[in-house]
Amino acid sequence: MSKNLSESLIRELAHKYHTPLYIFSEKEIREQCQKLKSAISYENKQIRYACKALTLQAILKIVRSEGINIDAVSLNEIKRAQKAGYNTNEILYTGEGASQTVFEELLANNILINCSSIDQIKLIGKIKKGSSCSIRINPGEGHGATNKTNTGGPSSKHGIYHDQVDEVKKVLKMYDLKLVGIHSHIGSESNLNHWLRIKDLTLNIAKKFDDIDFVDLGGGIPVVYKESDKPMPLDEWGNKLTESFNNFSKEYGKNIQLQIEPGRFIVASCGSLISEVQNIKHTPDYHFAIVDTGLNHNPRPAMYGSYHPISFIGAKERKMDGERSYVIGGNLCESGDVFTVEADGTLAPRQFPLLQIGDLMIMGMMGAYTHSMKSEYNSMNLPASVLVDKNGNEKLIERRGTVDDIMRREMEV
Ligand SMILES: Cc1ncc(COP(=O)(O)O)c(C=O)c1O
Repeated sequence: MSKNLSESLIRELAHKYHTPLYIFSEKEIREQCQKLKSAISYENKQIRYACKALTLQAILKIVRSEGINIDAVSLNEIKRAQKAGYNTNEILYTGEGASQTVFEELLANNILINCSSIDQIKLIGKIKKGSSCSIRINPGEGHGATNKTNTGGPSSKHGIYHDQVDEVKKVLKMYDLKLVGIHSHIGSESNLNHWLRIKDLTLNIAKKFDDIDFVDLGGGIPVVYKESDKPMPLDEWGNKLTESFNNFSKEYGKNIQLQIEPGRFIVASCGSLISEVQNIKHTPDYHFAIVDTGLNHNPRPAMYGSYHPISFIGAKERKMDGERSYVIGGNLCESGDVFTVEADGTLAPRQFPLLQIGDLMIMGMMGAYTHSMKSEYNSMNLPASVLVDKNGNEKLIERRGTVDDIMRREMEV
């Protein structure tokens, strides 16, 4: 549970806005932004927020007020960022797909495109000779908390493989394009050693190009989902990046900007999902507690076998009566709709005080890749979202979904 939320406030909000309910804490987001800014002493730096992690207007406005720019993966993410006040020169677009119309709109609006393939460089050249662009390099190695979140190495579809630098140079020259930056992002939840390794590989590739302005090392800073997770030693990480970029700039003969683009680190800890226990049942092997949410509101356990901290309000007072191991299941029709799983998806019951119908579940670390990946599967209404601002005041930032929302794009037939 976010340290900035009290149980009494959660009870009050659940009562007022219905469960399931997302609650986000402004204080938490600001604290994470501050940590990043103070960890890196290198002056010429730009932190971008990978806004795919959580793209609500209220969140984007908070991040913007911290002086953090945007990494966007789609035109609509860009439009959402602009609506929240971002200028086009504060946005970098990195997307795998590349339609002519999307690239035309990006170029017409002077949004820098970070090319993920040689075909994307060609497309820019065909639309607007003489443009600037950066390139996403696959440095030949990757790492993520799971195979699905590893975005580097020979099995990854992302970026331009590092052995194609000569071809990149040829295409840039052919269309008179100016390469302003080198980028790599090797995966989500990479530890210090992975970061340092990828920094070195990326800087070595950057050296091969004349007159770039920035090197972007992507996102992937890990957060602590469970007690055994190791946090990133931020000061050591920041000092090592600073040292390397100071040396690189000196050697390169130009003050190169250090860019990073974390998503998870900025927002994971700000979010909680509140849900109510609706049934308790048993098989010979397991006790199940079924809550009124599911993989439609947090797909991470089903997709990646991810762990989220879970606690119950109400049940604590019953701790004296004993505890029991429960599998916490969602209310969808899928067998995979369970929240307490191992990394490989097998059931992993957790010990809780005896649960009762009506107990409120608090699922923590819910800010990143949960709300932004939500769906209306099983025609369930989407939860409302509430922001608890830095003064502790609550504000509804997204209303609860309705059946009309679910059917909003269907035509009369
Ligand atoms: C290109 C790029 N940059 C940054 C990120 C953010 O990663 P994280 O949320 O792990 O920091 C992602 C995540 O998918 C990404 O694809």
